[in-house]
Amino acid sequence: GAGPLVDRFGRQVTYLRLSVTDRCDLRCTYCMSEDMTFLPRRELLSLEELYRLSTVFIGLGVRKIRITGGEPLVRKGIGHLFNALSRHLGNDDLDEVVLTTNGTQLAQHATMLASAGVRRVNVSLDTLDAGRYRQITRGGQIERVLAGIEAALAAGLHVKLNAVAMRGSFEREVDALIRFAHGRHMDLTLIEEMPLGLAGFDRANTYLPLGQLRQDLETRWTLSPLADATGGPARYLRVAETGGRLGLITPMSCNFCHSCNRARVSSAGQLFTCMGQEGSVDLRAALRGSESNIEVEGLIRQAVAAKPERHSFAIADTSVSGVTRTMSALGG
Ligand code: GTP
Ligand code: 5AD
Ligand code: SF4
Repeated sequence: GAGPLVDRFGRQVTYLRLSVTDRCDLRCTYCMSEDMTFLPRRELLSLEELYRLSTVFIGLGVRKIRITGGEPLVRKGIGHLFNALSRHLGNDDLDEVVLTTNGTQLAQHATMLASAGVRRVNVSLDTLDAGRYRQITRGGQIERVLAGIEAALAAGLHVKLNAVAMRGSFEREVDALIRFAHGRHMDLTLIEEMPLGLAGFDRANTYLPLGQLRQDLETRWTLSPLADATGGPARYLRVAETGGRLGLITPMSCNFCHSCNRARVSSAGQLFTCMGQEGSVDLRAALRGSESNIEVEGLIRQAVAAKPERHSFAIADTSVSGVTRTMSALGG
């Protein structure tokens, strides 16, 4: 398919976030309801289809692929996809294959990931308190995530921790998270809660603008802006006391849509060019309809040409956004 994927605003799509399952072994309160229903398995792209679609995007100029979920490591046979993608890392085809995971099964997969050429993994961890973790995830065991993190570090992977900042509790967690992450040479990135899907509470009560948290942090830590980037939306600060990096992801208070380089594909093969909008394009039918990739490429180009300028999340009322899909349906 000759020619990069450039949208109406001159932004090029070089980063694909590929969701391999909508299922998850946790039920984080801000992400999904307790009785979440998942797609029937036949709706999911097969591992072969996920790989084929990845090669189409690589052909269109994508340089970084992030495997997401739900929880990607619950997908059976996921190692095959990482192995297949690793071939492109050797060529001059692709810069990075990376993973976002809740970490509960990371201990079993860390060596596989490292040998498939994955160099960085992002692990979701909102607290270091076992009881609070159980509460946020509705039953998750923090020991498993901690073991997963240790295994990933032992396998030589760079680990970044992702924490959703929630007002009223996070202020008590954040210092411990900074010490824990930086003590093990991991980055820590804080994320503003976004109004995706229906939480069983009013998000206006838990939304914590990171500018406000930063002011609070600056009473205890010395923070200075860094030019570093990892290709995602985080803006990084150096913490002088630890020497580590603290990333801020601020979709609500300071959106970064003007520099968006991403597209997302759901586990059922729908292409979303913005996580903060409802619109999507079905790629699965085109994948299944023909062995040629021409139609799929055409659909991707059309969708990118129509990529929205920015998300439609409303900051005034974070309980209403117009986006009913949950984060887990598309992997953040
Ligand atoms: P790096 O490659 O390490 O920079 O990772 P990343 O930040 O791109 O990926 P990760 O999966 O760690 O993303 C962290 C969170 O940032 C996601 O779960 C989302 O909550 C948020 N995020 C990432 N990309 C976007 C985006 O395009 N729009 C919005 N609104 N949020 C995003
Ligand atoms: N707002 C912000 N981040 C969220 N995540 C899940 N739901 C939300 C939300 N509503 C985070 C998870 C994980 C990442 C994939 O997305 O905690 O770190
Ligand atoms: Fe699972 Fe991630 Fe959603 Fe938590 S935020 S329920 S770990 S998909």
